[in-house]
Amino acid sequence: MIILGIETSCDETGAALLKVNGTSLTLLSQSLASSLSLHAKTGGIIPEIAAREQVKYILPVIQEALKKGLNYTISKTPPAIDGIAVTYGPGLIGSLLVGVETAKTLSLLWNMPLYPVNHLYGHIYANWINKSDIPLPALALVVSGGHTDLVLMKSHTDITVLGGTRDDAAGEAFDKIGRLLNLPYPAGPVIASLAESGDKKAFVLPRPMIGSHDFDFSFSGLKTAVLTLIKKNNWDFSDPSFTKNNSQLLSDICASVQEAIIDVITKKTIAAAKKTQVKSILLGGGVSANNKLRERLEVATQTFLPETQLFIPERQFSTDNAAMIAAAAAMQQNTSTWQTLTANPELYF
Ligand code: KG4
Ligand code: ZN
Repeated sequence: MIILGIETSCDETGAALLKVNGTSLTLLSQSLASSLSLHAKTGGIIPEIAAREQVKYILPVIQEALKKGLNYTISKTPPAIDGIAVTYGPGLIGSLLVGVETAKTLSLLWNMPLYPVNHLYGHIYANWINKSDIPLPALALVVSGGHTDLVLMKSHTDITVLGGTRDDAAGEAFDKIGRLLNLPYPAGPVIASLAESGDKKAFVLPRPMIGSHDFDFSFSGLKTAVLTLIKKNNWDFSDPSFTKNNSQLLSDICASVQEAIIDVITKKTIAAAKKTQVKSILLGGGVSANNKLRERLEVATQTFLPETQLFIPERQFSTDNAAMIAAAAAMQQNTSTWQTLTANPELYF
């Protein structure tokens, strides 16, 4: 079967066609538009602007995915697909509504099943795309802009949360610290790239909750520590000439921040995997695009849990995309109808 996936939870507008053969999922085509460049200037997402951009892109993006994958042009005659999957939460309500209402309309027009997908499951199921089957039980770590969650997946229908963030998520910590350093939004990838030429031991930053005997996270203390460090030293990263003359300092802060976040995530993930004795560890969410995090988890899994397999999505499926939404629909097979489906911005596991 072929599923059309639609993702509009935040600032990316995505559509993708996924070929489904049992648990084998292959990407046929995808199209992704982003309003990120608009948000880079404002240092964060303005929901109203994100929603307006979703309206602008949604039909062209769906059209492009269908054209690339099936040489189909949108009309009343349905394309050769078997269902439409759409993110219905969590996310920004204005952005979510654009995808949900479009998916409902197409499902009505083409008389086709509608699969509502929880965006967080999408990040987990990104691991199945273009890969062989993944052994369960698995421990999933979702690290995105709004979430840092450790989830135990005994089966595709038995999923429990082991822990989550008590305040800022890992991606949010990267983004907020980036703002303190006057870096563009989203700051995660910028901090990662500046960190490459930095000394990760330059500054001793806190590793919040690293020793707590649970699987919860907290990153707001790290942000406060960076703010205190900046204030104490009177560093002014809002002044372009200060930043230019102190590029090594900036790289050192970025490397130290990244190291602190990775230390906490790695330690908690390995501890949770040990405790639950899972066969696989799955990574997902935008922060899983981080090279150093990928490397560190690979080494830690091989060292401490050699029997456990680590799965990391292809980088294009780490950050928000529509293929992962089609993947979650294919694996979970939850259906709805255009009459009943509503967006839910507060959705959790
Ligand atoms: O999953 P995602 O694309 O959107 C949400 O569902 O939130 O995640 C976005 C988050 C942002 O906070 C961004 O800074 C972070 O992922 N991110 C990264 C990297 N690429 C994206 N963080 C660290 N290193 C990266 N390479
Ligand atoms: Zn996401």
